[in-house]
Amino acid sequence: MTTLHINAKLKDFSKRVLIAGDPLRVKYIAEKYFKNSVQITNVRSMLGYTGMYKNKKISIMSHGIGIPSCMLYVQELIKYFNVKKIIRIGTCGVIDNDINLHDILISIGACTNSKINRLRFKNYDLSAIANFNLLYKAKKISKKMGLKVRFGNFFTSDFFYEPNRKVFNLMQKFNILAIEMETVALYSLALELKIKALSICTVTDHIYKNKKVSVNDRILLCNDMIELALETIIL
Ligand code: HPA
Repeated sequence: MTTLHINAKLKDFSKRVLIAGDPLRVKYIAEKYFKNSVQITNVRSMLGYTGMYKNKKISIMSHGIGIPSCMLYVQELIKYFNVKKIIRIGTCGVIDNDINLHDILISIGACTNSKINRLRFKNYDLSAIANFNLLYKAKKISKKMGLKVRFGNFFTSDFFYEPNRKVFNLMQKFNILAIEMETVALYSLALELKIKALSICTVTDHIYKNKKVSVNDRILLCNDMIELALETIIL
């Protein structure tokens, strides 16, 4: 089954898929962590790979930046490639002074300034939540790996460059853990199409402290998060 955005065959994908925004990070992860890694799709250079991790078939797919891009890849993965479990491994910004660059944050749920869920859910407010089973497994595995991981509410923004910085004060007031651009799309589709989804991010931007991880380090810094996601998705 080739779709408009994924030129793979049905059997090319595992039912377990990691997703990440950046195609080069996806390539790096497949080559570093998968045995017998094969590239299975390359439409628009949005690369996808399948290989083996600890004797389990696993795939990784890139999804670009933002809700519309993420949504179309996740929708095609679920509807046309029969994917049942998706863990997003991404990067995020933070506002809390106690959180530092490189910290790992896991989304229990996600709110948004996008209208997608109002449109999809007939103007009601959808609680875009993670799959409890994956949350529980991620908690257990992070403890076993000795990782300090925080769980909380993400804010999925349509902006990387927020035009109204006062919004960050509001997010702080409502205890938002991380700001990124895709989780609400993944969770909304996962709820509707009845698959398991989780979103994990590594902090690359501290908005108030004005600190950033460099472009090159963004690809390399996420090893703990990648291992946590791999161990969680195969369990
Ligand atoms: N804002 C939104 N999305 C992001 C950020 C950010 O600061 N960092 C990584 N993704």
